[in-house]
Amino acid sequence: MDKNKVNVLVIGGGGREHAIVRKISESARAGKIYCIPGNAGIAELAECRPGMSASDLDGITAFVKEHKDVGLVMVAPDDPLALGLVDRLEAETSVRVFGPKKGAAEIEASKVFSKNLMKKYGIPTAAYDTCGDAASARAIIKKAEYPLVIKADGLALGKGVKICAYLAEAELAVTELMVDKAFGGAGSQVVIEEFLKGFEVSVLAFTDGKTVTPMISSQDHKRAFDGDKGLNTGGMGTYAPNRKYTEAHAALAYEAVFVPTVRALEKEGRLFKGVLYFGLMIDGEDVRVLEYNARFGDPETQVVLPLLKTDLLDIFDAVIDGRLDQINIEWSADTALCVVAASGGYPLGYAKGVPITIGKHDADVALYHAGTAFGAGGALVTSGGRVIGVTAVAADLESARKKAYDNIAAVNFEGIHYRKDIGTK
Ligand code: AMP
Ligand code: GLY
Repeated sequence: MDKNKVNVLVIGGGGREHAIVRKISESARAGKIYCIPGNAGIAELAECRPGMSASDLDGITAFVKEHKDVGLVMVAPDDPLALGLVDRLEAETSVRVFGPKKGAAEIEASKVFSKNLMKKYGIPTAAYDTCGDAASARAIIKKAEYPLVIKADGLALGKGVKICAYLAEAELAVTELMVDKAFGGAGSQVVIEEFLKGFEVSVLAFTDGKTVTPMISSQDHKRAFDGDKGLNTGGMGTYAPNRKYTEAHAALAYEAVFVPTVRALEKEGRLFKGVLYFGLMIDGEDVRVLEYNARFGDPETQVVLPLLKTDLLDIFDAVIDGRLDQINIEWSADTALCVVAASGGYPLGYAKGVPITIGKHDADVALYHAGTAFGAGGALVTSGGRVIGVTAVAADLESARKKAYDNIAAVNFEGIHYRKDIGTK
């Protein structure tokens, strides 16, 4: 094999990983791609392991030891990062790994840790209290102003955040998180914080722990139904760049949030290498952190990476080697928009194994598979709540929007639902 080429293993199996695998496959330096577990769409580009789990640290470490041809591992999801997969691979193998170690990933895995970090280093965020027992939580919410936000400390699939309009709702939230333990240990501690007004922006950034280079901004749509109605989901659609996020906001966020966060992690001995995701709330000139993620967002990645012009493997290498300051990262001036087709019932219960048909669609539209698998006889079937995200790229938001909606008509399965208002916010 060409000495300049590298075989890559991507960990994860959703729409985000499909977009990452697609971008890697476009690199001049990409050799063979593996994906654990992958999905039916990723299988067109990578050798997948559908029987394995992205959180199976023993299995993944064994796979890397066996597959000596793998030169780079990219860890995409939150769970294996929080469990310390990067630390494990670095300790036990000689493979190069893209992603933060466990100590750095705690910025996402523990909201108590991230809020205390922001307080210590003066990074703007909502005022808050933390507490580890239901009785003191109840005492705090009695005296609080409303609306009020209560968040489980740990990872809860984006569902551990409760926005409470009045005291009775806050009492229910405390019971659900801390007494009934709806999210298990994730709710042993909670953050109780001030409700912020404004608009939300997602900014993903590459960082090698010293330099932080923001990617194109994006807009997520977290609620299940049009007009931001219904329950919170993992994300029903996105577009990039976010049209409300101005250059002035970006400069402010860089100075007040991005650089101080990376410096804070370094000072705490938790050098962060990988992708840091900033969920920001902006109100006029006021930029504050709603949340951090220690990884690429989903479905933000499905609109951000299609606009990246620089070779993604070159960026991964620069991050791993600590020379991100030496690479110039270029972006297309186009707009990308992604609409997610979800299973009937999602984000509550839904059927799996439902046959999917994909009709004629434009060749330049990307169908990123999120929850798909091969059923009996190799037929394409659903295997998750979010099934397929359709991403279109065009010169402006309106054209990208039209193209994405024209093409999602090609995707069909029983119970399909998707938002009709992505990009109109
Ligand atoms: P998080 O997982 O912390 O980003 O919270 C999920 C969603 O809850 C965010 O995307 C916001 O829409 C909302 N949210 C979280 N914290 C606040 C807050 N302090 N004020 C207003 N909305 C919030
Ligand atoms: N779309 C939000 C996330 O990836 O957490």
